[in-house]
Amino acid sequence: MYDNNPTLDPHKPLDESQQGTVYYKTSDDPSAVDPEKGIRHFYIESYGCAMNFSDSEIVASILGDVGFQPTRDVEIADLILINTCSIRDKAEKNVRQRLRVFNQVKKRRKGAQVLVGVLGCMAERLKEKLMEQEKLVDMVLGPDAYRDLPKLVAKATEGQKGINVLLSREETYADISPMRLDSNGVVAYISIMRGCDNMCSFCVVPFTRGRERSRNAFSIIAEATDLYQRGYREVTLLGQNVDSYKWENPDSKELVNFANLLEMVALVHPDLRVRFSTSHPKDITDEVLYTIKKYENICNYIHLPVQSGNSRILKLMNRTYDREWYLERVRAIYRIIPDCTISADIITGFCSETEEEHQDTLSIMRESGYTMSYMFYYSERPGTLAARKYPDDIPLEVKKRRLQDVVDLQMEMSHTHNQTDIGKTFKVLIEGDSKKSDQQFKGRTGQNKMVIFDKKENLKAGDYVEVKINSVTRATLLGEIV
Ligand code: 5AD
Ligand code: SF4
Repeated sequence: MYDNNPTLDPHKPLDESQQGTVYYKTSDDPSAVDPEKGIRHFYIESYGCAMNFSDSEIVASILGDVGFQPTRDVEIADLILINTCSIRDKAEKNVRQRLRVFNQVKKRRKGAQVLVGVLGCMAERLKEKLMEQEKLVDMVLGPDAYRDLPKLVAKATEGQKGINVLLSREETYADISPMRLDSNGVVAYISIMRGCDNMCSFCVVPFTRGRERSRNAFSIIAEATDLYQRGYREVTLLGQNVDSYKWENPDSKELVNFANLLEMVALVHPDLRVRFSTSHPKDITDEVLYTIKKYENICNYIHLPVQSGNSRILKLMNRTYDREWYLERVRAIYRIIPDCTISADIITGFCSETEEEHQDTLSIMRESGYTMSYMFYYSERPGTLAARKYPDDIPLEVKKRRLQDVVDLQMEMSHTHNQTDIGKTFKVLIEGDSKKSDQQFKGRTGQNKMVIFDKKENLKAGDYVEVKINSVTRATLLGEIV
């Protein structure tokens, strides 16, 4: 997901090859493709953030426990699920488009009972309305309600539509071992917390994912250990705001903060790389930075969304830091971890943003030296503080032009930063064949840059190699094994 592509939007539906459809063994397990034998199949598509992809693996595990098998072929599925994103209007439009496609599938398969369920943020935001608007939808489940899925499927099988969008203060799915979907067997996500208490004025997430809660640290370590033993070599700890991770051991009453958790995961094995996302500039502590520095297997890469470089806009966004605070955190990162790379999320054209204020965003990008950014123009979301309080008054073409400024600058900065890597050697974790050639591998550096290099005998996905960089593009480093 966090590809080294400056224009890649983590909330944009992925293209066909990247989509979160499940990839399964129906072909080498003949019983699995025969509906006569009573095996039911589910098909799931995920949109939006990494958290949704991680949630789909939890959903798959819950369905697996009641006898469902995953399929990548929607035409044989008994249950079609779509895990949705509400972060921008466009994300919701895409989901509605996919629901129309599923409607066609349902029509084509008249006679067969095919159920359709909507999961995730759109389910939570629209609730019953979704079933009224989209007639084919049989069930609607919010992000905290996935344990209820088997019950709602049973109900729907009897013709009763079902909904559960109750948000929870406790649910972390800590005891559920995710079924790894579409996995390369090398890198995996581990969800460490859910929800968000930050209430950024533009953001719908606090309404769709509820209050912040942290997962039992021991269950996180157990998951990381299990992944390592099964051959995985990289985990990304996921949360809307990982720096506010806080879990109290009920026996010892000891508090585990994010720095402690990072250390515990790093100690699982020196060959297990650790990444994390997302950090909040108001919460990232020096203790976290020193922990990253201390462990070679914690990657020197921080995703630190800035949103805007202007203090007045940051205040309107309710980000609770100003430009100076942000830049101080950036300086602390480079002081403590000199070769760390930083990426950001940026929004252009927020309510009342002037041309000068937009220039502040461009200048904070330069000062922070991002190697990559996820860039968006502002999309008003119903119910948010911004929607209630501030007019969405920047014309679309201005928002888009400012976005283009930001994208152009980021492309130039990524290219310049990549050029400084020429001649250097990096430790790269092989993730698999490169997209273009099966004679080449792809893998990432600790700083999260994608590297392409020729294969050598006896090497495979999951191995670490030292790669010397010979040339670069804006998005990729090209090198050779040394
Ligand atoms: N409009 C545009 N971008 C948004 N984001 C969140 N809400 C909105 C919105 N209403 C972006 C922010 C956030 C990322 C996940 O999505 O940059 O960090
Ligand atoms: Fe949304 Fe802000 Fe929470 Fe991120 S920190 S999920 S932008 S409210």
